[in-house]
Amino acid sequence: MKPMVNIAIFASGNGSNCENIINHFAHSPKARVALVVCNKPGAPVVGRAQRLGVPTAVLPRAAFNDPATLLPLLKRHEVDFIVLAGFLLMVPAYLIQAYPRAIINIHPALLPKHGGKGMYGRHVHEAVWAAHERLTGMTVHWVTEQCDCGGIIAQYSVPLTPADTPATIAAKEHELEMKHFPQVIEAVIDAMPQ
Ligand code: GAR
Repeated sequence: MKPMVNIAIFASGNGSNCENIINHFAHSPKARVALVVCNKPGAPVVGRAQRLGVPTAVLPRAAFNDPATLLPLLKRHEVDFIVLAGFLLMVPAYLIQAYPRAIINIHPALLPKHGGKGMYGRHVHEAVWAAHERLTGMTVHWVTEQCDCGGIIAQYSVPLTPADTPATIAAKEHELEMKHFPQVIEAVIDAMPQ
């Protein structure tokens, strides 16, 4: 039996993915969400995690970028694996070095399209709409020092029609995230070396 994997979720805003992931692993023998890190004081994700009994830490950018703050926090919660779920800060190099092949991100489009700096949340769905895409979707990928450029782990897509708007595109894509992201995380954890 593999030891339990402790997941930290990093999030900046609403936290619907965070909540969905916490619930997915709530009774899992394989993994659990041990910590939620948020860079935005007052973001709804913090309350969602607290209501589900998961420890939270709010670290504004300077604290997040300071290895002497973040690394001991992750160690204290015995974090093995990091999931970015709507996290809007760049991940610093020291963290990538401390967690090799153990940090993944979700992006709300079919990378390599509609990714990179400034492409998050509704900006992505507006870009998909403006490009008259016939498909949108979600991408889960490894985190590297280049924004949205790490190897792709999984993608799921959904068709669009000319009647779609940025709001309906966002809703269709969000449905994919709710359905697939926890399972993708579980598959990555299952494939991790002990
Ligand atoms: C999600 O749609 C996620 O894919 C996106 O932010 C949203 C967070 O929603 N991430 C990015 O745009 C990263 N570039 P949530 O806070 O309700 O989980």
